[in-house]
Amino acid sequence: MKEKIEALMAEINDLKCKKEQEIEEARVRLLGKKGEITRLFEEFRTVAPELKKEFGQKLNILKNAAAAKIEELKNAAEESADSKEASFDYTMPGDPMPLGSRHPVSIVREEIVDIFRKFGYDVAEGPEIEDDWHVFEALNFPPEHPAREMQDTFFVSESDNPVLLRTHTSSVQVRAMEKMPLPIRIVCPGRVFRNEAISARAHCIFHQVEGLYIDENVTFADMKQAILLFAREMFGPQTQIRMRPSYFPFTEPSAEIDVSCNICHGKGCNICKGTGWLEIMGCGMVDPNVLEASGIDSKKYSGFAFGMGVERIAMLKWQVKDLRNYFENDLRFLKEFETSI
Ligand code: PHE
Repeated sequence: MKEKIEALMAEINDLKCKKEQEIEEARVRLLGKKGEITRLFEEFRTVAPELKKEFGQKLNILKNAAAAKIEELKNAAEESADSKEASFDYTMPGDPMPLGSRHPVSIVREEIVDIFRKFGYDVAEGPEIEDDWHVFEALNFPPEHPAREMQDTFFVSESDNPVLLRTHTSSVQVRAMEKMPLPIRIVCPGRVFRNEAISARAHCIFHQVEGLYIDENVTFADMKQAILLFAREMFGPQTQIRMRPSYFPFTEPSAEIDVSCNICHGKGCNICKGTGWLEIMGCGMVDPNVLEASGIDSKKYSGFAFGMGVERIAMLKWQVKDLRNYFENDLRFLKEFETSI
């Protein structure tokens, strides 16, 4: 026992730890519940009575020395922490905190919506989970129309009145026609869902901005002018548009709109595949059946509607070749749009 006490005494005198954690470890090792000194006190019980006085004193000295040493080390550690703080240079530049930026799809959606706001359109929004009536039936889709099939539409529940994910934001236009007082002049931005294989040019989730204008005496010429003005705001003042005949169940007549290629200005390049034109949206005069389905008198009122894909416009604007970039959240891609805010 004598040797152990002496060895521990030497160790205590030699203790040199600086870090708070090391000091705490030394305290536990020596004075903790299972520490070496505590154990010696237990051993002390078995010491012969004639030696108790001598060992008792030695043990107490050892314990006090250990406690004093630990205290001393702790004070030294605190002091050096204080002096470190005092020497900290508060004028040093901070660690840069990277700023986030808006997503390119949000930037373009806002740009489109802002252009139509300037023309006097309001913004209308509606649910992403819809019923058959608002997505198809009220929009004059015949019962057997292929867009109603599972290959195109995500169904949430199948029944006589199925619940589904909207395949276009025209459903919001139906809701507006049902409730809003006439005339109606709205744009409907939102996320839409189609059961398509994901590729560089298609995705099962994307965004649209659709528009609707209903009043007395609205004509095809009004539509053409509104779209031309939009195209020039979006793609530059030199932009031309052309219309190609098309078909949608909810518009008659219907057209597809192309803008002159803003890269080659009509000469032909690989973005416009040599044609000089880029397709940007579908449009048409609202079919009288659609007006009547929402309780609007088609003899008195007429209107036009249009719809475009936000990702597509963004791809044309920034010449992004793969649609999937917009959904992968790769910071290297997203950072390229920081300056576009
Ligand atoms: N709803 C059509 C689509 O999703 C777009 C469109 C809207 C076409 C309005 C014409 C008129 O493809």
